[in-house]
Amino acid sequence: MDALISYLDSNKETHLEGLKEILRVPSVSTSPEHKGDIDSLAEHLRTHLESIGMESATVHKTPGNPIVTAEWLHAEDAPTVLIYGHYDVQPADPLELWETPPFEPTQKGDRLYARGASDDKGQSFIHVCAVEAWLATEQRLPVNVKILLEGEEEIGSPNLVPFLEENQSWCSCDTVLVSDTAMFGKDQPSITVGLRGLAYLEVHVEGPSRDLHSGVYGGAAPNPATILSDLLSQCIDSKTGKVLIPGFYDDVLELTTAEEEAVHALPFSLDAYKDAIGIQEVVGEAEYTVHERVSSRPTFDVNGLWGGYQGEGAKTVLPATAGAKVSMRLVPNQEPTVIAEKFESFIHSIAPDSVRVNVVHHHGGSPVVMDLTSGPIQKAAQAFKEVYQKEVFFTREGGSIPIIADFKRVLGVDSVLMGFGLNEDGLHSPNESFSVEDFFRGREVSARFLAHMATKTS
Ligand code: BES
Ligand code: ZN
Repeated sequence: MDALISYLDSNKETHLEGLKEILRVPSVSTSPEHKGDIDSLAEHLRTHLESIGMESATVHKTPGNPIVTAEWLHAEDAPTVLIYGHYDVQPADPLELWETPPFEPTQKGDRLYARGASDDKGQSFIHVCAVEAWLATEQRLPVNVKILLEGEEEIGSPNLVPFLEENQSWCSCDTVLVSDTAMFGKDQPSITVGLRGLAYLEVHVEGPSRDLHSGVYGGAAPNPATILSDLLSQCIDSKTGKVLIPGFYDDVLELTTAEEEAVHALPFSLDAYKDAIGIQEVVGEAEYTVHERVSSRPTFDVNGLWGGYQGEGAKTVLPATAGAKVSMRLVPNQEPTVIAEKFESFIHSIAPDSVRVNVVHHHGGSPVVMDLTSGPIQKAAQAFKEVYQKEVFFTREGGSIPIIADFKRVLGVDSVLMGFGLNEDGLHSPNESFSVEDFFRGREVSARFLAHMATKTS
């Protein structure tokens, strides 16, 4: 380990530069205009994995964005760890709110600013550096390692699920290692043992055949924008935070007393929480703590809303159409397709005959919970403790990584969610950043985790 740690120490700048190179590529998966960037980054990653000594590094074409894989399988009789990460990012918009250009990584003190710095280029590159350190200093890895980097996580991994199913034998492993979550707080290392699922839909309301003068027609012609607001407001009680879609809570598994006690024991400051996001009051289900509300309770949210005049000044118009994007975060045992169906039938059942309502289904993902007493999770906690010298929290988080449930379903394995980010990193927001110190420390945690995975669980 000593040689390995000193290798990590003396290669800090090289590793940071390697990360910056990846961050310079605008590999945005949500719009087709970045396809060229996506392809060139996939090839760059393949070459990099090969250069550090990983074998069979390959870019797999898919109907969407490529998947990059590489392997090192010479640790006879040792377990196999599949390292998963995503090299795609969310769009940088709104650009005007960035203090430094999103694809020109800029370091200010301990923070490295760039789209993808934390989600997920910085976090997944940690493991690539750890693997490099092992191979450079020991010419071997303590366990068999497969690396799988995808370019469609931010759009629901549509092509990774078929890839998993078709390449089940290559993907087979003892555990999946993922860093795409957050620590509980700065210097509060944590392992995520639960993620919410997601159902994402659009509602389109069509009324008159054209926009109308609101004075001439207002009062008799149906207004799609008003009707849409009415439909959406019937989905959630904004006072109690309860989702009103019939059957929405049917499959929700309440926390066990032990899980509830564990959540309640987590440190939390309401004032700091409110300050961090600039709000006056929290909302939602009063009988649950804030942490429970954002991790182990399901939600309904409007993500986007349009219809009618958006320009400056007042235009007296009655819009012909209106629409909304809505998402529901799900918890065990809610299933995204079931919930999406319930939402669609509810909307149709309450929609008035005066308008046409169309519901479009987007991607979804199932929620997951992991057994925190499992060998790999305990080994990850051990590795964290050795580097951070702190007790490790086991938390559930509110975000979604849909492929984690598929790893369980297709490969039959749990994942170790070893997050090095922070919720304050600004994921999906302007000025996303990542702690350089945690990037450096993460490499050691990862290297130690691989070593622990080689030892038998007592
Ligand atoms: N890294 C996030 C997921 C995440 C964020 C987990 C914070 C835990 C804490 C991931 O890249 C992401 O944003 N996922 C999407 C999934 C969706 C597009 C299917 C999400 O949660 O919105
Ligand atoms: Zn991510």
